[in-house]
Amino acid sequence: MDNVRFHADTKVFVSRKAVEQVIEAIKADGIKKVLCVLGGGSAKTTGLWDRITKSLKENGIEYCELWGVQPNPLISKVREGVALCKDPANKIEAVFAIGGGSVIDSVKAIASGAKFDGDIWDVYLRKSAPPKEQLPIYTVLTLSATASEYNYGSVVSSPEENRKLGMFFPNRPRATAIDPTIQFTLPWRQVMCGAVDATSHLLEQYFSKTNETDCTREINLALQRSIIKSMIKIKANNEDYEARANFCWAVSLALNGIAGLGLSGDWNVHYIEHAISAVDDKIAHGEGLAVVSHAYYKFLWKRGIAKEMFEEWAQVVFGTKNVDEALKKFDELLDLWGAPKKLTDLGLKEADIPRIVKIEQEQNQMGVFSPLLRLTAEVTTEILRETL
Ligand code: NZQ
Ligand code: ZN
Repeated sequence: MDNVRFHADTKVFVSRKAVEQVIEAIKADGIKKVLCVLGGGSAKTTGLWDRITKSLKENGIEYCELWGVQPNPLISKVREGVALCKDPANKIEAVFAIGGGSVIDSVKAIASGAKFDGDIWDVYLRKSAPPKEQLPIYTVLTLSATASEYNYGSVVSSPEENRKLGMFFPNRPRATAIDPTIQFTLPWRQVMCGAVDATSHLLEQYFSKTNETDCTREINLALQRSIIKSMIKIKANNEDYEARANFCWAVSLALNGIAGLGLSGDWNVHYIEHAISAVDDKIAHGEGLAVVSHAYYKFLWKRGIAKEMFEEWAQVVFGTKNVDEALKKFDELLDLWGAPKKLTDLGLKEADIPRIVKIEQEQNQMGVFSPLLRLTAEVTTEILRETL
């Protein structure tokens, strides 16, 4: 390990009272008015919105609202939020995300856009550097998947340009509420997507150029095992509080930096998936990842890439010395979770591959690096063909 920097100064509350605790944290920071940003309406139907507004009022915090962030969030909605924050009449001092990764990612863009002179999309396009100043961010997490509640990543789409781009803002949430009971209302499809996404974050960081960072690898593998264990319990009882709390915590740690500290990582599965959901924004991130992962790790193993890491992963996560057997068990895990494994399961077909590859290659040129395997157009095509 060399040149390692770790900074994760988000206050995280994992508790049945987390919502109230995060709002108390907003008050303690002296914030008087927030912009609440939400998705398509689940927070209303589950009663969460009533709980939040009650607590905001009790703490004397004013708020305005922005609803309608969609999965695979749009830059157009971000711009609406930026305009609200920039309007001095609104007196917004912080941005409050209530939702999953799409809402939290949008909030990061809004909080930065509020302090940016131009169009914040230019930052995603790498035409401008992120602004040094942002509005403070707070979150109530309703779906454990991305770890956006505990990191500084943000992924936003512009369907007009066929782009789905990630950005890192120097702005983690100041405080995050994880009340596992809020996630009892999630449809299984979203739980599955969350488990696949977090597992993918761990695998993308674990399979690295060198395997010297023993401590980080052990943490990473332990998180993979913990997610597998919790998912068995959640599948048996959707309202198992302890299992859900363990799951949420493992998912947050999967991408707050600790599970990849000192590792080169790879991120090819995510690069290909982002191109897939840029082609069709109805495809959930976790579903796209399941399909690509299913093919990608076999592809790496067949080419003898990261051999020692594959052997360690097989032993620690799946209890076998035989990597082919571990890859089979990984497939069975995807089946157990009900994850898609074929491109056709996503409603795409062979004829869509050139379009996905074109987008992946164009987005790739914006600064992607893949230390394990360079994603040329030929390689991406070959991987995608394995998913048919
Ligand atoms: O919009 P509402 O009505 O709230 O419904 C949402 C949405 O339809 C629903 N939902 C959320 N919480 C719920 C609930 N339904 C019932 N009960 C609840 N408690 O779930 C649906 C999906 O939500 P979304 O936020 O889109 O899911 P997720 O958290 O998986 O976020 C995915 C986005 O994050 C990006 C992905 O690319 C994708 O755009 N990522 C962000 C990362 C980051 N910031 O670090 C890294 C990831 O790799 C990923 O790329
Ligand atoms: Zn992801």
